[in-house]
Amino acid sequence: MTTVLFIHGFPFDHLMWRHQVAALSGWRVIAPDLRGAGAALGPSAPDEYSMAGYANDLIALLDGMHVQQAVVCGLSMGGYIIFELLRRFPERVGAVILCNTKAEADTPDAKRGRDALAARARRDGALAVADEMIPRLLSPATQKQRPDVVREVREMIGRQSVTGVAGALHALRERPDSTAVLDRIAVPTLVVAGDDDVIAPANEMKQMAEVIPDTEFVLVRGAGHLTPLEQPLVVNAAVAAFLEKLG
Ligand code: MLT
Repeated sequence: MTTVLFIHGFPFDHLMWRHQVAALSGWRVIAPDLRGAGAALGPSAPDEYSMAGYANDLIALLDGMHVQQAVVCGLSMGGYIIFELLRRFPERVGAVILCNTKAEADTPDAKRGRDALAARARRDGALAVADEMIPRLLSPATQKQRPDVVREVREMIGRQSVTGVAGALHALRERPDSTAVLDRIAVPTLVVAGDDDVIAPANEMKQMAEVIPDTEFVLVRGAGHLTPLEQPLVVNAAVAAFLEKLG
C-alpha cells in the first residue's frame, strides 16, 4: 500500500492536515509533528533545528516503520523539507505534493523578520505570534467568513512551544536555496497554490511548477497560505486524484 507522509508548515503541527488524514482512506497516511512542534519534544537550542535535521528525523521515522518509499506532501516549511529530502534521500521519495511553498532561500530582509518574530515569541508567547501571522496566513474571505478556521489556526499556533517556534525560525532563516532541485525532480509532482496566498504567491508557484519536469498545477480559489484548512474539500480531491493516478 502506498504511504503518504504529510509534513506540516510553520508554526503548526500535524493537525493542520486533519481533513486530509480523515479523507484519504485508501492510503497509509503518516502525519507526524516535527521536532519541537505539537506533542514532539525538541532541543532547546535554536541551532539544533535545521531543514536537514527535520529531514533526518523523517527518514528515521520511515525507517522505524519499515517504509522504504513514500509520497511526500508538504506545506510551506514542509515543502522546504521535501527539497532537503530530494537532495539527500531521493530514493525515499516516490512522488511529491508541494503546497503553498517556494524554492528560494530567505532574503536578508526576511531573515531580519525571522529574528524579530523569534524575539516576539520569547517576549510575548506563541499567541502573539498567531495574532501577528494570521492576517497573512488566511485569505480575506476565510478571515471574514470562517471564524471557526481563524479560531482553529489561532489555537494551533497558540499551543506551540516557544522553543519549537524559535528553533523553526532558525531553521527557516538558515535554509539553503533549493531552486537547483526543481528541474531534477524525477518523480510525479503536484503543486497546490492558494489564489490569495501572500507568503507563497500563486503566480510564483506556477512558475516553480513550470520548471519541474512531470508536474500538475492546481490553483485553489478562496484560499490563502493554508489551503488544506481553508479549502479542505478542494485539496482532498486534488490529492486523491493525484494519488489515484500514481496507482
Ligand atoms: C510556513 O507556513 O511553513 C511558513 O510560512 C514558512 C515561511 O515562513 O517561509
